[in-house]
Amino acid sequence: MGERRKVALFVALAIGATGALLVVRGPAEAGQSGGQGDPSGTAGPGATATQSSTGSNRGAADGALVEGGRQLFLTSCVSCHGVDGFGGPDGPNIQTAGEAGADFMLRTGRMPMAAPSPQPPTKPPAYNDEQIRQLVAYVATLGNGPAIPEIDTSRGSVQKGSQLYLSNCAACHNSAAVGGAISYGRYAPSLQQTAAQQVGEAPRVGPGEMPTFDARAISPSELNDIATYVEYLRKPPNPGGANLGYTGPVAEGFVALLIGLGILVLVIRWITRESGAGSVKEAHGKVPVPAPHVKTARDAHPATTVGEAEANG
Ligand code: HEC
Ligand code: HEC
Repeated sequence: MGERRKVALFVALAIGATGALLVVRGPAEAGQSGGQGDPSGTAGPGATATQSSTGSNRGAADGALVEGGRQLFLTSCVSCHGVDGFGGPDGPNIQTAGEAGADFMLRTGRMPMAAPSPQPPTKPPAYNDEQIRQLVAYVATLGNGPAIPEIDTSRGSVQKGSQLYLSNCAACHNSAAVGGAISYGRYAPSLQQTAAQQVGEAPRVGPGEMPTFDARAISPSELNDIATYVEYLRKPPNPGGANLGYTGPVAEGFVALLIGLGILVLVIRWITRESGAGSVKEAHGKVPVPAPHVKTARDAHPATTVGEAEANG
């Protein structure tokens, strides 16, 4: 009996751990991806086309764009970033954030921040495409910052991108781009939902704890390769079987071990329980049942089964 309880406990633990693992993974991924939905609603080529034209269209239309952006800035950003983006107690100087910095922060929903926090949460963008272009144009006038990189994933190399990603990004974002914890409540987010354009912007911007990679560290075409590879990671060719959320080989082995072991223990327990029941039945006829217990039971309800009659007779 004690042995069986131990087994039951182990099974419960194994199943519990498996369940917890799956449950914990689920919301974590959903939570991160939920906030990072493709901002403009156009992942890939669509977004690329509109945004790179923003970069090359600089000129006549810029005056109106900048003025619109300035108005928005005075309403929603100046409280933290100060006049002319000079910075203040609640927000850093953003004069050198550039087009890339503003576009990245606005399209991933990081800005405007509702309240100071160790890491600005990503959420659906607060502004529409036109407003974002206005703010981006305005922030770009504040100082010398990185331009929005040209990203076209139809021209990138998955193979080169893979090497570059593994050596520059995987340490923090995980080789499957599902993200990972860094320290003190900070995390490198999953890149599974990030639009290719923002994947290309992030290295130029270096948000939060992430290092900045300038054109000497990662050339424009290498940047495009990385964005292409990250997009490719999101829809790897399916070799069949359960993908387990593409958590990578270690986690897959772990899950297999837990579930496999759990099922094995269940089967063992089922088998031993069958034979255990049999031996108890057998013993019932032979071993004398303690008299007082049976007597009280008999007094209340006269024996009806053969087994009980035998034991008492
Ligand atoms: C509640 C305060 C707050 C408001 C409002 C806010 N920001 Fe920020 N912003 C911050 C903080 C704090 C950071 C630094 C975040 C970090 O690096 O982790 C930041 C970072 C940025 C950066 C990146 C700076 C860099 O060089 O990395 C840009 C660009 C930016 N904000 C633009 C904006 C714009 C545009 C708005 C208005 C739409 C805005 N912010 C509204 C607090 C704020
Ligand atoms: C030292 C760890 C580290 C490395 C290396 C790193 N990142 Fe990051 N990355 C971060 C952190 C931390 C954030 C979140 C910053 C924040 O929100 O304040 C981030 C955010 C991002 C985001 C924003 C994702 C989203 O949807 O919100 C992208 C895209 C990104 N990184 C791409 C890259 C790429 C591409 C590389 C390699 C060239 C890279 N990162 C290398 C730590 C890292």
